[in-house]
Amino acid sequence: MAQHESDSLITTEVSAAETARSEIPDETVLRAEELDVYYGEEQALDDVTIEIPDRKVTAIIGPSGCGKSTFLRCINRMNDQIPSCRVDGSLAFQGKDVYDEDVDPVALRRKIGMVFQKPNPFPKSIRDNVAYGLTVQGKTENVDERVEESLRAAALWDEVNDQLDSSGLDLSGGQQQRLCIARAIAPDPEVILMDEPTSALDPVAASKIEDLIADLAEEYTVVIVTHNMQQAARISDKTAVFLTGGNLVEYDDTATIFEDPEHDRVEDYITGKFG
Ligand SMILES: Nc1ncnc2c1ncn2[C@@H]1O[C@H](COP(=O)(O)OP(=O)(O)OP(=O)(O)O)[C@@H](O)[C@H]1O
Ligand SMILES: [Mg+2]
Repeated sequence: MAQHESDSLITTEVSAAETARSEIPDETVLRAEELDVYYGEEQALDDVTIEIPDRKVTAIIGPSGCGKSTFLRCINRMNDQIPSCRVDGSLAFQGKDVYDEDVDPVALRRKIGMVFQKPNPFPKSIRDNVAYGLTVQGKTENVDERVEESLRAAALWDEVNDQLDSSGLDLSGGQQQRLCIARAIAPDPEVILMDEPTSALDPVAASKIEDLIADLAEEYTVVIVTHNMQQAARISDKTAVFLTGGNLVEYDDTATIFEDPEHDRVEDYITGKFG
């Protein structure tokens, strides 16, 4: 266990906005209970119970293969697309189990959007990328307004407002990732899942996304997987540490995880002794 704050790997700098946010009482938006996930015979998550608060940033950290992406994909049922994948236990979004028979996974994914490690714009114009979710829903009203709002919320509007008809693929990597965030925001989700969203970006582009994530948490719940401890410490309110075997070993306020974790294994991991 970390005895002194000066021992900790990372000092958490808390901005005024974050302080204000941390004073809002937590309301659970996602709750996993005794969640087990298997790929065929292989168990990838083991008995995971966690409550994720609304409109906060929750970071998921842990060594490669510990089940972080699996957990994220369970939340909006992206795992449905993997035939060998089986889920046991419960996972509730706003109190409703997402694996109930009457849940439409497509509608669920509009409420729980996702951003991946590698920016993946469609080979379409910037406008059509952002409008994609609306178009799929058959929404035709106020599309341009929504495109602008989403691009503004993704901190990209100022850079692209005069080129909305050019291809999303012509943007830089960092811009493409913000375009993907705008695309996730446009259908007005509640939760945005991000799986290592900055690991393919240069430090400047990554830092822009980090700033953006803090702003997004004003309106959305953000769950972010990251291998970057400093990033988790900088941007998240809560941190969940998964370790090998698909176990959630510790989950707490980010400052506690990085400054005074309960488990030695967690401290070893965050101080770089393994992983
Ligand atoms: N589609 C799949 N089919 C079979 N096994 C899988 C599949 N996806 C993941 N796994 C296995 O499940 C376990 C957890 O994988 P997962 O991708 O969730 O880990 P992770 O924590 O995201 O790792 P990384 O940090 O490398 O991205 C691993 O043992 C992995 O091999
Ligand atoms: Mg992963």
